Amino acid sequence: MDYFNYQDNGHLYGEACELARLAEQHGTPLYVYSRATLERHWHAFDQAAGEVEHLICYAVKANSNLAVLNVLARLGSGFDIVSKGELCRVIAAGGDPRKVVFSGVGKRVDEIQFALEQEIFCFNVESVAELERINQVAGELGRQAPISIRVNPNIDAGTHPYISTGLKENKFGIPIEQALDIYRQAAALPNLNVSGVDCHIGSQLTELSPFLEAVDKLLLLIDSLAAEGIHIRHLDVGGGLGVKYDQEAPPEPSRYAEQLKARLSNRDLTLVFEPGRAIAANAGVLLTRVEHLKPSEAKNFAIVDAAMNDLIRPALYSAWQAIIPTDLNLQREAAVYDVVGPVCETGDFIGKDRELAIAEGDLLAVRSAGAYGFVMASNYNSRPRAAEIMVDGDQAYVVREREQLADLWQGETLLPDA
Ligand code: LLP
Repeated sequence: MDYFNYQDNGHLYGEACELARLAEQHGTPLYVYSRATLERHWHAFDQAAGEVEHLICYAVKANSNLAVLNVLARLGSGFDIVSKGELCRVIAAGGDPRKVVFSGVGKRVDEIQFALEQEIFCFNVESVAELERINQVAGELGRQAPISIRVNPNIDAGTHPYISTGLKENKFGIPIEQALDIYRQAAALPNLNVSGVDCHIGSQLTELSPFLEAVDKLLLLIDSLAAEGIHIRHLDVGGGLGVKYDQEAPPEPSRYAEQLKARLSNRDLTLVFEPGRAIAANAGVLLTRVEHLKPSEAKNFAIVDAAMNDLIRPALYSAWQAIIPTDLNLQREAAVYDVVGPVCETGDFIGKDRELAIAEGDLLAVRSAGAYGFVMASNYNSRPRAAEIMVDGDQAYVVREREQLADLWQGETLLPDA
């Protein structure tokens, strides 16, 4: 559930702020996030985990705006990061580095150093080479590095191939068959402190069974490790819980956590979650204005002012996101449109075959745009990136200014005169 709803006057609101008004004030394309929705989704995980020791590490990659991170940090959230940049964002937003897990296959030496200095909760290690590198860097700093190994359980998450990560052919993690052996190697390295087991099998999962299958495999591993005297203190189940974009009916965090807890039985394990999309996706919309309607023999096009550079998910994954008017009172003729942006690519679309009753100048909201929206934006076609707003009740705050044209070439230089 989110707080983007039509009120009785037929106008779409984010919490108590009218979206059309925000678009008038701040221009379009415009990302709008809802604080209450972010908080609601975070609490859903927190309450679901309940009495079991747990840490919710919001996946920063989903939406790394400082205000978003800060809202979650104030709730006591941890964070899942994949770069020094993300760690610096967490710190700048008031997050606690001691609640940070560091994922990703290609951690650089300087990133490992910085994370160690910040005393993060855990490194999620994805290869033997990385294990050795972390051991070395920790040794040089005279520190112990807390590590988990990201185990690849070879499970088909049944999601889009680009966002499925738990299969053998994916670049992520260490194959489960090798995990025991690699844990032994890790335990023998002097500067590592083996503390967890980690996995992340994919994103936008709408069934529980792949998660549970993965956890069953990890628990067997944890028991085998215990038998060898390697005591695992936390189980990181990754992120990946899906959201409702269209007709999906993803499981609630409560049902997920219930099943997890039943499996933990009396093992003394802290549960770590890394949700990104489930917290942020439906906490944001992208507002865009219709520039032109362009009928053609084969198709009607609605050309809007948001494009693939603002929201790339439809172009990149054929992702479907709802596109709805912000005012239900307008009398328009309905037609079926491809909603496309101004970028010079055939793949530049926000939605295809959508029935909409619209005219030039109307405002539309692309729903579920709070995760993997702005963070994946680019300046392609020299388009300044959109502004971001956070609503909080009847207050709206600019949490990132719209880029100016001069920002586009900031840092670029001409060659010297001949
Ligand atoms: N943990 C790890 C190690 C991850 O790789 C990811 C996402 C997450 C947690 C968070 O997953 P979530 O709860 O958000 O599903 N750009 C794509 C999604 C890429 C996800 C990458 N990894 C999209 O727009 O659908």
